[in-house]
Amino acid sequence: MEKKGAIGVFDSGFGGLTILKAIVEELPEYDYLYLGDNARAPYGNRSYETVYQYTLQAVNWFFEQGCSLVILACNTASAKALRSIQQEHLPSNQNKRVLGVIRPTAEIVGKFSKSGNIGVLGTVGTINSDSYKIEINKFFPETTVYQQACPMLVPIVENGETETAGADFFVKEYIQQLMAQSAAIDTVLLGCTHYPLLANKIKAALPDNVTVVDQGKIVAASLKDYLNRHIEIEAKCSKNASRVFYTTDNTETFNQLGKRFYGEQINASKAVL
Ligand code: DGL
Repeated sequence: MEKKGAIGVFDSGFGGLTILKAIVEELPEYDYLYLGDNARAPYGNRSYETVYQYTLQAVNWFFEQGCSLVILACNTASAKALRSIQQEHLPSNQNKRVLGVIRPTAEIVGKFSKSGNIGVLGTVGTINSDSYKIEINKFFPETTVYQQACPMLVPIVENGETETAGADFFVKEYIQQLMAQSAAIDTVLLGCTHYPLLANKIKAALPDNVTVVDQGKIVAASLKDYLNRHIEIEAKCSKNASRVFYTTDNTETFNQLGKRFYGEQINASKAVL
């Protein structure tokens, strides 16, 4: 019988910890192996080729650790690398699955909007890929999607500057640019793993009638549903409620900053990809 393995959760750095947190709340019984590629983060401004190569290396690392299921808990990696990995890499590896965060979010987000006008905030890479626009329109063809890249928000969060005047300035600026595209926007999706840490400021900068959607819970519910529907993959996921963390960069920094994203103490080990 094939050995069972942890569910792999990947991000360019810390951000995926916000997704892992929601997944662990929804599905606490499984083992989770988290990898943050902090040494090469952020991915947000990098080319397709680079994000693809980095993400593929990470996915192979998870497979070597015995994972059968890997979640790309990073919008940029999901936008730029997931499809190529699924099409070019997995067909020869039938027992392995790699899932992203964009499709499950796109499947649901239209339900929050009454006006059919949705704003998406994300990294330059995610926004320029048009992935959210394309995916949301597949599930909600009547919906109009407005997008806004927010390049300064990841560095603000990573540097612990979420409560500063600088954070206020950039959040207001990006929200103004988004809402200038259409006053009918009534739903704003946080399409980047870091933005939940700025959710209060984003809500405050938006008109009261706008709903802010955080993808953590959506991705967690979708994973639960996936495991129920794919019992052959579920059977390969071990269940000892363990959480193991790896980073490609300094472990002490990861432990210190990671706590902000995960909400609990982390003891990471170093991974070499
Ligand atoms: N995790 C990335 C995302 O969700 C943000 C950080 C990065 O740019 O690498 O898009």
